[in-house]
Amino acid sequence: MADGYSEWVVDRQLVPGMFQAFVDQLEPELRGRADAQILDVASASGEPAASLAAALPLATVHATDLTPRFVQLGAARAQRLGLRNMRCQVADAERLEPFADASCDAVCCCMGLMFIPNVAAALAAFDRVLKPGGALVITVAQPPEVQPFWTFLSELSEEMCPAAGAAPAEAPYPAEFGPCRFGDPQPLLDAAAAAGLSSIACRPMLLDYQMAAGEWWTSLTQMPDAPVAAALQRLQASGSGANAAEQARQLAERRLRERGWLQPDGSVCCPGNGAWLITARKGSQ
Ligand SMILES: C[S@@+](CC[C@H](N)C(=O)[O-])C[C@H]1O[C@@H](n2cnc3c(N)ncnc32)[C@H](O)[C@@H]1O
Repeated sequence: MADGYSEWVVDRQLVPGMFQAFVDQLEPELRGRADAQILDVASASGEPAASLAAALPLATVHATDLTPRFVQLGAARAQRLGLRNMRCQVADAERLEPFADASCDAVCCCMGLMFIPNVAAALAAFDRVLKPGGALVITVAQPPEVQPFWTFLSELSEEMCPAAGAAPAEAPYPAEFGPCRFGDPQPLLDAAAAAGLSSIACRPMLLDYQMAAGEWWTSLTQMPDAPVAAALQRLQASGSGANAAEQARQLAERRLRERGWLQPDGSVCCPGNGAWLITARKGSQ
C-alpha cells in the first residue's frame, strides 16, 4: 500500500495543485527565514514537505507519518531530490511526541486528518507545537459529489465487472474515517476553535488529477484504494479471458475520451475535484 501510494500519488504527482497550495500559503511568510521550522503531519512519503523544502531552501522541513514504511520512502525521496533541509521521522499526529512545545513556525497536514481517529487530539498537538502566531495549513476532501475522478473510477469498475467493481474487495478505511469524512468541514473548524486556534478560515479549491501519457492505465490499476484494480482482479479470476485487461483498458480509454479528459498528447487530466483549504494561527496569548 505505502509503495503504491508513494509511486503513483506522491512521486508522479497525481494532484500537483494540492502540494503547491501549501507552498503558496507558506512561501511568502517564511521566505528568507533561515531558522524557520515547518512540520508536515501525515506526510506519507513526504508531501507537501518536499515541495516546501524545495521552495524554502533555508527552512528545515520535518516530514512525519505514523507508518514507518512511508517515512523510509520519504527519506529516500528527499535524498533522491537532493533536499538536504528535509528530515523524515515517525510521529503520531495525535501526540507529535518528537516535537517540543512552541517549536514550529508552521504545521501542515495534506489530506491526512480524515484518517486520524482523534482529530481533537491532533489539533491540540498542532496548537502545542506551534509558536505563537505560527501558521496551520490543512487540506481535506470535499463530499463525494465533488469528486469526479473517484466517481469515474467507481463507474468504470462497475461497468468492467458489474456488482463487483464498485467497491474494493475490502473497504480500505472504516466508513467514519473515509476520505470524505470532512466533506462538511464545520466539525473540523469547530474542533480547531476548541483546540484554541484562531483566525480560522476555510475556502474551496478545485484540483486537477493528472496522469502522464502511457502511464494512466498502470496508475489506475496500481493506485491503492482505486476500485479499478479490484474489478480487474475479479474479472481475471472469473476466467473472463486473456484479453480482459486489454478490453478493460480500451473501455477506460473510451470513457475518458467521452468526458474530454484524454488530452491530445495522450495524458489524462480530470478537473474539478473539490478540497477544502483550511488555515489558522496559534493565538499569541
Ligand atoms: C492520504 S495519505 C496523505 C499523505 C500526504 N500528505 C499526501 O497528501 O499525499 C494519509 C496519511 O495519513 C497517515 N496517518 C494516518 N493516521 C495517522 C496518525 N495518527 N498520525 C500520523 N499519520 C497518520 C497515513 O499513514 C497516510 O500516510
